[in-house]
Amino acid sequence: MLLHIKELTVHYEGAEALNNVTVEVEEGSVVTIIGANGAGKTTLLRAISGLEKPVSGEIWFKGDRIDGMLSEAIARKGIGHCPEGRRLFPFMTVLENLKMGAYSQKNRAGIEENIHNIYKRFPILKERARQKAGTLSGGEQQMLAIGRALMGRPILLLLDEPSLGLSPLMVNEIKNIVTTISKEMMVSILLIEQNSRMALSVADYGYVLETGRVRLQDKPESLMTNDHVRKAYLGEEL
Ligand SMILES: Nc1ncnc2c1ncn2[C@@H]1O[C@H](COP(=O)(O)OP(=O)(O)O)[C@@H](O)[C@H]1O
Ligand SMILES: [Mg+2]
Repeated sequence: MLLHIKELTVHYEGAEALNNVTVEVEEGSVVTIIGANGAGKTTLLRAISGLEKPVSGEIWFKGDRIDGMLSEAIARKGIGHCPEGRRLFPFMTVLENLKMGAYSQKNRAGIEENIHNIYKRFPILKERARQKAGTLSGGEQQMLAIGRALMGRPILLLLDEPSLGLSPLMVNEIKNIVTTISKEMMVSILLIEQNSRMALSVADYGYVLETGRVRLQDKPESLMTNDHVRKAYLGEEL
């Protein structure tokens, strides 16, 4: 198992954000966690990246226990994090933002090669290389945020609501990007989404998170035919 989160509990000043959450990501797979606003999705990704400290539970990555490690060390082990809301530097150029994703790397040639690879996958970023990130469209900004997270050459990419605020056309583009990263770049993906339909259509396995607990977990085909999921997450009238 590439990533194994075991019975994780995270609190914020007494308030419970995650309760006894167990999630697994197999190498080479796309796993999604769907859930409403406030379910605890972002907290889970932040805990994996070492940005929130769990009260109890364990996080294992490639056979090593990583909870308690510094976030820089976790990133170096091969976990890339594309945060909620993209968190770009709007007054810096596309290229400068990409380079920020490699701030801990010293190997110049390696950084150039990564930029080259990202430009190959996302040609629009090459076209816009000298443009300020803040002038890009929402979809382009999301691509840049994903590209920046890929600069560290992760084995596992954490994507926090990449489709948020995007047009249906761009959401489809994000879905294609997820597939490309998974199948062509061989990066495993943990995808957090409120857009359940998109997330379940691209994932190999899915979890439903409700008020900090895993309510359901199954193959996407099964989740998509589950009455609760259809009603609460796919907006279907039963
Ligand atoms: N920094 C924080 N301080 C206190 N409570 C927080 C903080 N961040 C999130 N929360 C609370 O924790 C719960 C889970 O939040 P979050 O992980 O952001 O959910 P999601 O990403 O699924 O919308 C929510 O009830 C939220 O209000
Ligand atoms: Mg969130």
